Amino acid sequence: MGWKTLDNVTPDGRRTLVRVDFNVPIENGEITDETRIQAALPTINSLIEAGCPITLCSHLGRPGGEPDPELSLKPVAAHLANLVDAEVTMAPDCVGDDVTQMRAELGPGEILLLENTRFHAGEEDNDADFAEQLAGDAELYVDDAFGSMHRAHASTVGVTEYIDECVAGLLVGEELENLEKVRDASRDGFIVILGGAKAEDKIEAIRDLLPRVEKLLIGGAMAWAFFKVLGRNVGESLCMPDSVKAAECILEDLDDDQRERLVLPSDVQMKQVKPDTGETRFADADGIEDGWDALDIGLQTQEDYGRTIREHAKVVFWNGPMGYFEEPPFNEGTLAVAQALSETEAFTVVGGGDSAAAITQMDLEDRMSHVSTGGGASLEFVQGRELPGVEALDRV
Ligand code: 3PG
Repeated sequence: MGWKTLDNVTPDGRRTLVRVDFNVPIENGEITDETRIQAALPTINSLIEAGCPITLCSHLGRPGGEPDPELSLKPVAAHLANLVDAEVTMAPDCVGDDVTQMRAELGPGEILLLENTRFHAGEEDNDADFAEQLAGDAELYVDDAFGSMHRAHASTVGVTEYIDECVAGLLVGEELENLEKVRDASRDGFIVILGGAKAEDKIEAIRDLLPRVEKLLIGGAMAWAFFKVLGRNVGESLCMPDSVKAAECILEDLDDDQRERLVLPSDVQMKQVKPDTGETRFADADGIEDGWDALDIGLQTQEDYGRTIREHAKVVFWNGPMGYFEEPPFNEGTLAVAQALSETEAFTVVGGGDSAAAITQMDLEDRMSHVSTGGGASLEFVQGRELPGVEALDRV
C-alpha cells in the first residue's frame, strides 16, 4: 500500500495517540450503533497488549468549534469501558494543563479518551498550536479513523508534524486494502451505485467515476433532480435548487457514451402528500403527478438494477440509499439493492451509513466483500482523490 501501518512497527510501550472515529449515533446517552467502536478494537487491543499508555481522540458531530454538552464523548468512554480489558478514563477536554497531567500519569495499557476535538476551532482549522498540544507527549501516532481521513484537520493531519512515527491503524489498513481494489478496478464489470438526497454532494463523484465505470446506477432523491433537468414533472418530490443545478452541470458535460452509462430510475414509488392521503403507488419516471412525492425507486428499477449487478458486475461499489430508507415501504429499493449485492460473486464494497445499515438490517454483512466505516472517505478514495489523513502518514 505504501503507507506504514501498525503491522510495520513495534509499539513496545510507547506513549501513543490514536485518532479513532467515534462519531457514533447517541440517543439519551446510549450508543445506538457501536459499529465504529467495534471496528477500532483490534488496534486498541493490540496497543493494550503492547503495554502502551493510550490516548484516544475523536470528533463527535459538528459542534462548530464550541463546547456542546450534547456532543460530549462521555457516553462513548462508558461504552468502551465495557468492551476492553483496560482502565478507561474520560478527560474533561482534549488539550490543556489538566489533560497534559492526565496523559503523563497514564500507565501501560491504560486508556484516556479525550473530549471531542471539535470543541476547539483549532481542530477544523488544522491550527498548528492546537495540533502540537494535541500531539502532547505522544511518541507514536496511529490513525485508525478511516471515516475522517478525507478531513485535513489537526487530529488527522496537523499532529503528524509533532510525533516521530505516524502509522495507519489496523482498521485503516484493512479499509485501504479493500478500497484500492475498487479504485483500481478496470471499466469492464465495474458497477457503481450512488444514492442519497443531494446531487450536489455527489457531483464530483459522478464526474470522476463516469469515465471509469461500465454503469453508474443512480437512486435516492438526487435522481429527481435529474428528472427535473430532463423536463419531467417531479410533483412534490424533494428537489432542491442546488441539486438541480448540479444535475444540469453533470448532464451538460456528458458525451453520448457517458450518457448511456449514467442510469436513472425508470420508475418510482411515491406517496400522495397534497392532499395528504398517505396513499402510496408506483409510477413511471415520467408519470409523477402534482401532489405526489417520489420517495423510492420503483419495482422495474429494482429489477433492472438487480439484474445489472447480478449479471454484469465484477466489482461493485455502493454509496447511498435508493430512497427514504427510514420510512417503510420506501426502504424497499435500498433493500433490493442490498439483496442483489448479496447474490453476486463480484467483489462488493458498501460505504455510507444508510447503505451499511441496510446490509446490517438484512444480516448480509458476511455476503459483502467489505463494508466500509466511512461514507465520504470511501467515496473520495474510490474516486481517486488523495485522502489528507492517509497522505500525512509515514511511508514504508
Ligand atoms: C462521518 O461520519 O462521515 C465522519 O465521522 C466524518 O464526519 P464529518 O462529515 O462531520 O467530518
